[in-house]
Amino acid sequence: MSEVDFQARDTPIQRADPLARELGLAAGQLWIKRDDRTGLNSGGNKARKLEYLVADALEQGCDTLVTTGAAQSNHVSATAAAARATGMTCVAVLSTLGAQHQAEGNLLLDDLFEIEVVWTSPDQRQAVLAETTRQLSDQGRAPYAIPLGGTNPLGAVGYVTAAEELEHQVPGCIAVCAVGTGGTQAGLTVGLENHERVLGFDVAAVPGLADTVPEVIRDCAERLDRPQPLGTWSVDRSQAQEPYGKPTEATHEAIRLTAQTLGVVLDPVYTGRAMAGLIATSRRATLPDAPIVFVHTGGMPALFTHTYRPWFQVPSEFDPAH
Ligand SMILES: Cc1ncc(COP(=O)(O)O)c(C=O)c1O
Repeated sequence: MSEVDFQARDTPIQRADPLARELGLAAGQLWIKRDDRTGLNSGGNKARKLEYLVADALEQGCDTLVTTGAAQSNHVSATAAAARATGMTCVAVLSTLGAQHQAEGNLLLDDLFEIEVVWTSPDQRQAVLAETTRQLSDQGRAPYAIPLGGTNPLGAVGYVTAAEELEHQVPGCIAVCAVGTGGTQAGLTVGLENHERVLGFDVAAVPGLADTVPEVIRDCAERLDRPQPLGTWSVDRSQAQEPYGKPTEATHEAIRLTAQTLGVVLDPVYTGRAMAGLIATSRRATLPDAPIVFVHTGGMPALFTHTYRPWFQVPSEFDPAH
């Protein structure tokens, strides 16, 4: 397979003692894996998946990455960057809920990479992705279709590697992550070989995770000739009660607490919600008695969109005299 390097490996890990203290955890019990510091700009967890998916695309002689996501998709802007980094272009099927989308956040990045956009509704994404890929082939291009979130057994391999790093960095840890399409959770579970060692918080991005994620886990383990993980798949749905991306007070609190105790910025759609879930779980004193590693999967651009503007107090007037 072609070698593709999006600086996705060996991300740093940091102790999170000041945050642990706020949550009533012992010093040394809480860590953050900085997967927000992978390559592809703000690509976060996507860089790990895309190293494998883009290598496959190049191997097949493709010239266009075709993918799908919400208007503010981190995955789409990361795929667009990955395409440009490897001499390809990107076509994205973006979904709208009928809301007016403003030129902000990830849509600005998409424009920098000059992606071609096809708009659709969330329930049509898969069908339009398939149709767009077919049309591109008919036009003589060589498209490579990447599913929503880059989640399939090949993309998930990126997180098997992450799990191996984790096992080295904090042996015996429990990994905590946001679950959108579930590829991150799937890869971590295969790598740690035990469902109990991954605590995933559903952020309400897609329905039907119970049907899709266990299948990705099974196929990913088979592909790598690794054992099927012990136990059974589950996801914590406590943060999935509000619609995907909707600002919640718990998320806002989690983002502020993390920023003010660690100087680390989480995102409002995925990692902020997962941290809200971790905070709630630790307050209920139901966390397993093991070191916890919160996997920061990136996503900061969404914070800079109008949706979350009410969270912020900024000076309303600039006084040039001062
Ligand atoms: C910042 C961020 N974190 C986490 C996730 C969830 O990852 P997965 O789709 O692998 O569950 C996403 C997915 O888009 C994301 O953008």
